[in-house]
Amino acid sequence: MHLVNDRPVRAPLDVDTDEPVPSYAFDPTDPWTQTFQAGLERAGLRGRRVYEVGVGSGANVLFMLRDCAASRVAGSDLDRRLPELARALLSRTAPELADRFRPVHGPVSLLDVHEAVTEAAAADVVVACLPQVPDPFDPLYARFRTAQLKTAAHPGDPGDDHVAHYYPWTAFNDRPFNSIGMGLIEALLTRLKTVAPQAEVVLNLGCRIGKATLVQVLRSYGYRTEELASRIVRQHAGTDISFFVALETAMRGTGYEQDVRCEFYADPEGRTQLSARQARALLDTDPAAPVYHEICVLRGHPQATGGLL
Ligand SMILES: C[S@@+](CC[C@H](N)C(=O)[O-])C[C@H]1O[C@@H](n2cnc3c(N)ncnc32)[C@H](O)[C@@H]1O
Repeated sequence: MHLVNDRPVRAPLDVDTDEPVPSYAFDPTDPWTQTFQAGLERAGLRGRRVYEVGVGSGANVLFMLRDCAASRVAGSDLDRRLPELARALLSRTAPELADRFRPVHGPVSLLDVHEAVTEAAAADVVVACLPQVPDPFDPLYARFRTAQLKTAAHPGDPGDDHVAHYYPWTAFNDRPFNSIGMGLIEALLTRLKTVAPQAEVVLNLGCRIGKATLVQVLRSYGYRTEELASRIVRQHAGTDISFFVALETAMRGTGYEQDVRCEFYADPEGRTQLSARQARALLDTDPAAPVYHEICVLRGHPQATGGLL
């Protein structure tokens, strides 16, 4: 369930499917989706083959085929219901484009099945909007959080949109930038270096750890970056941001405070910056408090020289 102007919005889905529809499916009014699509529009997809990791319910599949004139889109998702939902959405909304979408059935984590690898290998562009916040129930994150904040997580009922917001931190602990919430995305970039080194990547990213840091992560994996879209959005009420507070606390006194600086705002123009601790305090006092952060769409152009990692 997404919030727009503080109101929960149920996706206006009108698809013919036997599958249960997750509450977070297809909300074209969501500012994250709108920003992602503004970036996709500028990504030069006309006539190109795209793979979407985490198709959601197909809002972008439809958009990339119909509005961006991509020649073909393939896609998968960790939630096994979603590729089928995407197919149903496309068949109903733009039946003439249905044969240009190849759903890879799953569950598929990143590109962990043969068919996903084959499809990604044939892609010119790989797009994704993946979680950058550790699962509050993850054991390693729970230890980190307790060590830094001296409190256990109280994330409440995760609901069925948990998978759209959080990722299993421990599973990506071998990734250098996992500590700042980029482990899942790094695992994707690592995989792409092997299976689709030619492909551009277009990522819709939360900038709560700082945009400069995001650019650095992509550069480390051998991509030249280009910003395609950006917007300041309301902090999603369903995502626990304690991780960023714990991160800030962990950096204190290390000399690297300026290198990893969490960025939140008290206004939608981004004039008044807040630390994660200040943002969390405001939301603890009033869950409807105005707390914002930037999101951006970064395109990564693969560089022949590869990356540092
Ligand atoms: C924030 S939603 C974005 C959905 C869609 N791409 C969009 O932009 O509207 C994140 C999506 O990534 C999926 N996801 C989360 N972890 C994943 C993983 N490890 N591999 C593949 N998909 C994943 C979720 O199920 C969800 O559909």
